[in-house]
Amino acid sequence: MTDERAARRIDPADIAAQLRFCGEIKELLEGRGPLLANIQTYGCQQNVADSQRLMGMLREMGFGFTGDPCEAAIIVINTCAIRENAEKKVFGVVGQLVHVKERNPDAVICLCGCMAQQETAAEKLRASYRHVDLVFGPQALWKFPELLHQVCTKRKRVFSIENERGSIAEGLPVVRESGVKAWVSIMYGCNNFCSYCIVPYVRGRERSRKPEDILAEIRRLAEEGFRDITLLGQNVNSYGKDLDEPMDFADLLSEIDKIPGDYRIRFMTSHPKDAGAKLFETMARCGHVAKQLHLPVQSGSSRVLKAMNRGYTREQYLEKVRQAREAMPDIVLTSDIIIGFPGETEAEAMETVSLVEEVGYDALFTFIYSPRPGTPAAKLPDPVSRAEKQVWFDKLLEAQNRISSQLHRGYVGRTVRVLVDGESGDSQWPLSSRTEGNRLVHLKGGRDLIGQYMDVRIIDSNTWALFGEISPE
Ligand code: 5AD
Ligand code: SF4
Repeated sequence: MTDERAARRIDPADIAAQLRFCGEIKELLEGRGPLLANIQTYGCQQNVADSQRLMGMLREMGFGFTGDPCEAAIIVINTCAIRENAEKKVFGVVGQLVHVKERNPDAVICLCGCMAQQETAAEKLRASYRHVDLVFGPQALWKFPELLHQVCTKRKRVFSIENERGSIAEGLPVVRESGVKAWVSIMYGCNNFCSYCIVPYVRGRERSRKPEDILAEIRRLAEEGFRDITLLGQNVNSYGKDLDEPMDFADLLSEIDKIPGDYRIRFMTSHPKDAGAKLFETMARCGHVAKQLHLPVQSGSSRVLKAMNRGYTREQYLEKVRQAREAMPDIVLTSDIIIGFPGETEAEAMETVSLVEEVGYDALFTFIYSPRPGTPAAKLPDPVSRAEKQVWFDKLLEAQNRISSQLHRGYVGRTVRVLVDGESGDSQWPLSSRTEGNRLVHLKGGRDLIGQYMDVRIIDSNTWALFGEISPE
């Protein structure tokens, strides 16, 4: 193991110092009435998990939480840079906060996450969004208390956006909003450099948490009664390659599965190039592991896949799907797809539609290509108009909607085991629940059922969800 590969682990003494900064901020703000923080999270589940850590640190500083930025002493916008739209939305939200700052000049406005780590966005914030007090990238999340302390004591703007290789910080406090579902990051960063993607540039190199830290966290969650635990990483299948004692993802799953308790384990995201027979057999064997796989294909054309630097062909991908289904005949499969990669032709986009029909995914996350400055794909000629890409995109959606409705209809009349995971906000179907494959089932019933597994009979369905009736005992 060379130092070059080893992830920098933050010294526990440095984490303890951050907790001391929390205490100092608490003292500084003493007497300013009830302290509230407003956290707004954009983007992927990793950001949701990061926000839960930020909330943990804010709670140590004495903060409660509010959904209204106008009543908050601290506002944190946790951003996403994956597509231009996500960025535009954040600039809109941050622009509006100028009025909050006018009304409450003491409010501290922070922006963090992937956009903060992107040079062009950080420059724009520095020059044109002067009401933003603190900007820090994902690599600096663990020192949020220290950075905030600088803002509060030195009364100046602070930018912490050094592009480090990345580190691992254990032992940060966390606020989990639900007592049922939990996110557990098992690794950070990405080494794949898919040609369209900004993530490797903003989240640094792949680095794995130690298995003993992950197992201890999951053991605690299972003991506390969490029922649905999702392991997170940009590419969970390359877990462990950088550890002193290498361990692969399938072996990690087997170890987790030994932890007693009534819980399900999910994971995302799997890169098809690294997912294989060992993973599928392990999933099939492990009782706690949900038979569900998010296996982003991105494109159904081998030529486009090569240009995307994905490391597999259409045929190799389809072979993985075949293997997964052989090991788990009822597996629920989902995928991410990009339409309109630079140079993609209509025939190639239709190869993607035909792959979607061939696989028969339960659901898809679909995107129109968005150029990200600094990535290789952003430099490629992109002659097809947005309007034409939209036509291809609509064909893809039409195919997937048809497939999802058909698969969902197949559930009607069956009894399935679901976990009731929250309220839906719909008075007719007030509860939401999830099957083992993570399909959404709307239910009637009281809040007291949240957190319980129930057998429900599916009585209706549509493209996006199922509707169930709680079966009598
Ligand atoms: N444009 C459009 N979609 C993208 N994704 C990643 N980068 C881009 C981009 N530049 C999609 C991929 C990925 C998902 C998280 O976002 O499908 O799997
Ligand atoms: Fe981006 Fe590819 Fe890494 Fe996923 S695997 S985060 S798409 S570079």
